[in-house]
Amino acid sequence: MKQINTTFEDYKIADISLSEWGKAEVTLAEHEMPGLIALREKWGDQKPLLNAKIAGCLHMTIQTAVLIDTLVYLGAEVRWMTCNIFSTQDHAAAYIASKDIPVFAWKGMSEEEYTWCLDEVIKFNNHEGNWEHPNMILDDGGDLTKHLINNYSEIAEDIIGVTEETTTGILRLKEFEENKTLPFPAINVNDSVTKSKFDNKYGCRESCVDAIRRATDIMMAGKVAVVAGYGDVGKGSAASLSAAGCRVIVTEIDPICALQAVMDGFQVMPMKSAILQANIVVTATGNKDVVRQEHFKMMNYNTIVCNIGHFDNEIDVAWLEATCKKSTIKPQVDIYQIGEGGEKQIILLAQGRLVNLGCATGHPSFVMSCSFTNQVLAQIELFANGYNYDKKVYTLPKILDEEVAQLHLAHVNAELETLTRKQADYINVNMSGPYKSSEYRY
Ligand code: NAD
Ligand code: ADE
Repeated sequence: MKQINTTFEDYKIADISLSEWGKAEVTLAEHEMPGLIALREKWGDQKPLLNAKIAGCLHMTIQTAVLIDTLVYLGAEVRWMTCNIFSTQDHAAAYIASKDIPVFAWKGMSEEEYTWCLDEVIKFNNHEGNWEHPNMILDDGGDLTKHLINNYSEIAEDIIGVTEETTTGILRLKEFEENKTLPFPAINVNDSVTKSKFDNKYGCRESCVDAIRRATDIMMAGKVAVVAGYGDVGKGSAASLSAAGCRVIVTEIDPICALQAVMDGFQVMPMKSAILQANIVVTATGNKDVVRQEHFKMMNYNTIVCNIGHFDNEIDVAWLEATCKKSTIKPQVDIYQIGEGGEKQIILLAQGRLVNLGCATGHPSFVMSCSFTNQVLAQIELFANGYNYDKKVYTLPKILDEEVAQLHLAHVNAELETLTRKQADYINVNMSGPYKSSEYRY
């Protein structure tokens, strides 16, 4: 068994003795993350991230450990924290700490502790209060970016750029951009096709039902599941529930997404009607106040309520907390008694925080490899050329998006057709890509 370095103390995690377990799972995950391994092989000698000081704020899972290892392998100095109080896999955090990489992540931290982590993750080479600033940010949801902009404007000046993982974080970045308060350029990783059309959709297709099953052991077949929002995450979640035998009802505000849901075979109706039939409710909107007190009051006995969107404001948990008697079945599974005499009860998962990471282990490694290959490419690009970018939000060029997909084909035994010169001319594309215009929607 590896000896743990007892002099390295620049971390806060649950239990360092879990590191060997974490290492074993990281080894398994590496095999399923061909994009990240290919980037190590392609860029390893050049160390394009040498002198990068990356402060990362993203779920501390086994898959993220493979991402962190890759960033370090390419030369970066890294400090890491989770972006959600319930999403950490403690053995993954232990593995990272055992490699002397500063990490601040444990499952079930408080919100105050989360804020403390936001302060710690930026303190590179901290000696008695003197510390160096990060020069790169890797964020998921925008908490770290917002924390820096609001509380550390002097550090923001030293940041070359940020790469942002998720839909909700992009929304925040665009607000900063519109208000002209974005102090550095940003790469929107979410809107790489190989991110949002894979992680958000196919990832949730695997991890949505996984979480509900692990939390409740409920028989899914025959249940009515309501999915709020039919964007990428909603599409994946609805497919997950449908494949498990649920009858799925979708709620939407956007007529295009509503029509897509209908074409996919799902009924579409407002929440106030859908809730009457629901046994399971999953919010996937990235919006706030989607499930409210009037909905709780109409719910069936033991309706399972959860959220798979980034933040916990989709479900009015504050009302439940303030009004209803609560009993905890196990961590992240709570029952609330609704009504004057507590005549009915509902089951809330992960306190309304993203259920697939709170009650299960998030998306599988292969799909996270697609997301994180985009992350690494974005970090390399911004670190090398960030000073040439305006203080705006950019996406990666399509040719890199196609490269990410390419790096994942062999692992799933997929072989491409070869385009002839005449065919390339006929459809007006370059023989070596990109194969679609930027307007193409996939
Ligand atoms: P999206 O914009 O593609 O989809 C959201 C959908 O919700 C849209 O179609 C929108 O019209 C709809 N919507 C908005 N308000 C609504 C309301 N009040 N009622 C019903 N529908 C409403 O976004 P997305 O990429 O699907 O992401 C959704 C959320 O999930 C974001 O917060 C994102 O950050 C998060 N996310 C979570 C995971 C995960 O693993 N849990 C993965 C990726 C993204
Ligand atoms: N988001 C969804 N699933 C994830 C995972 N397994 N690791 C990190 N972030 C995720």
